[in-house]
This record gives sequence, structure tokens and C-alpha cells, in this order.
Amino acid sequence: MAFNKQEILELYRNEPWRTRMHVMGRMRLFPFEHLVEHVPEISHGAMLDLGCGHGLWPFFLSKHCPDAHIYGIDPDDSKIRLAEEIRQSNGIENITFMTEKAEVADFSECSFASIIDVLYLMTFDQQEAVLRHLSEKLDSGATLLVKVMSQTPRWKFLWNWFEEWLAVRAMKITFGQRFYFRPEQEWVTLIESLGFRVTKYRLDQGYLHPHLLFVAIKQD
Ligand SMILES: C[S@@+](CC[C@H](N)C(=O)[O-])C[C@H]1O[C@@H](n2cnc3c(N)ncnc32)[C@H](O)[C@@H]1O
Repeated sequence: MAFNKQEILELYRNEPWRTRMHVMGRMRLFPFEHLVEHVPEISHGAMLDLGCGHGLWPFFLSKHCPDAHIYGIDPDDSKIRLAEEIRQSNGIENITFMTEKAEVADFSECSFASIIDVLYLMTFDQQEAVLRHLSEKLDSGATLLVKVMSQTPRWKFLWNWFEEWLAVRAMKITFGQRFYFRPEQEWVTLIESLGFRVTKYRLDQGYLHPHLLFVAIKQD
């Protein structure tokens, strides 16, 4: 199923203008349309999105896999409350939103998981612990999407760092404190060491930010 940005944005139509601007900006700057190519058609079971923000990606997953149940988790209670309101007012029944940090969230076995532009807000030890927890909860053959920002090219990395500094430190619109980026190969080594086969995709052609995706398939 293609990612229909307009259809997802419609869900936010009654929200305050600041929220609408935020989600519209995210839609414009983020290559969701490339991410969807790596989402399997899950016909039952649980799908998990850690650090789901305002719920854009869980809302898409709920349309893409109407027979699965999607869990969206984020520590920012205002974002989760908003996502939950939208879920209820649109009668969407196959999503559960929860306010929690990924590193302490208790979730059960799942058939798919994603963590999209979230790990940089956790310490290196927390990143590893969260990925290990995901590995333990994913079925063999299941897909984990790990989306990060690359450190190359340098100008895109610095641009992203500046924007994140504004969002996290100056304006405090994103929950977090400090940033923890890793080189590409270090990500691959880490994720593979946790029992996945990893393929990496650069998704930043035509985008200002150095979008980098790891598609990790859980091994037996
Ligand atoms: C850049 S936003 C990405 C939101 C969403 N994944 C998306 O792609 O639209 C980063 C998100 O990570 C969340 N976050 C920060 N620290 C977190 C943590 N320890 N565990 C889970 N999510 C966290 C923030 O609240 C924020 O919603």
C-alpha cells in the first residue's frame, strides 16, 4: 500500500494550527513513502512503534495492516494524548497508544517493530538495551526498521544537528536532553550482534536531512 500523506494529514484536521504545522513539516521532510516499501503485510499479531510522537506512523500502519494491532509508545504525554484523541474521534480500533520511555516500556512479542529517529535521544547503553529488548520480542523472520540520521555528508549532519538542537534544547518541542549519534558501520555491527541480518538504505536523495534506514530481519 502506498503512503498517502494527505489521507494521514486529514486525521489532524481539527487539531490546533501548531500541531498541524508540526505534522505537515514532518511529512514534508521525512521520506515515509520509502519506509513503507519495507513494511510487510502483517495479517495478525502485534506491530510496535517506539517513539511514535504524534502517531503519524502508527496511523499509517493501522491502514496498511488493518488486521494487526499496533502499539505506539512515546514518553511525551501531550503527544500521546493527542494521538489517542485522534484515534478515538476517527474510530480507529487497532491502535493502542502508551506514554512510556522505550528503555522501560514493557511490550509483548511482536511481528514487526520500528524505531524512527528516536535512538539519538538515548545514551549508547540505552540504545543497545532497547535494541536487545526488541530482538528478544521479535519473532524469527520479523522485520525491525531502525531509522537514524547518518553522519555523512557532513553538511547534512550539521544541518540536522542544528535543527535538533532547536527542537530539543532551545524550543523543547521534542522530549530529550543530549544527542548520541553513531557511524553507519557501528549501527550495522551492533544490530547484527543482536541476532539480525541488516541491509542499509540511504533515503536522503532530494532531502535536506541525511536519512538512513536499517532494515533488520530477525534470524533464528
Ligand atoms: C524526531 S521525533 C520522531 C517521532 C516519530 N518517530 C516520527 O518519526 O514522526 C523523536 C521522538 O522520540 C521521542 N523520544 C524521546 N526520548 C524517547 C525515549 N527515551 N523513548 C521513546 N521515545 C523517545 C520523542 O518524544 C519524540 O516523539
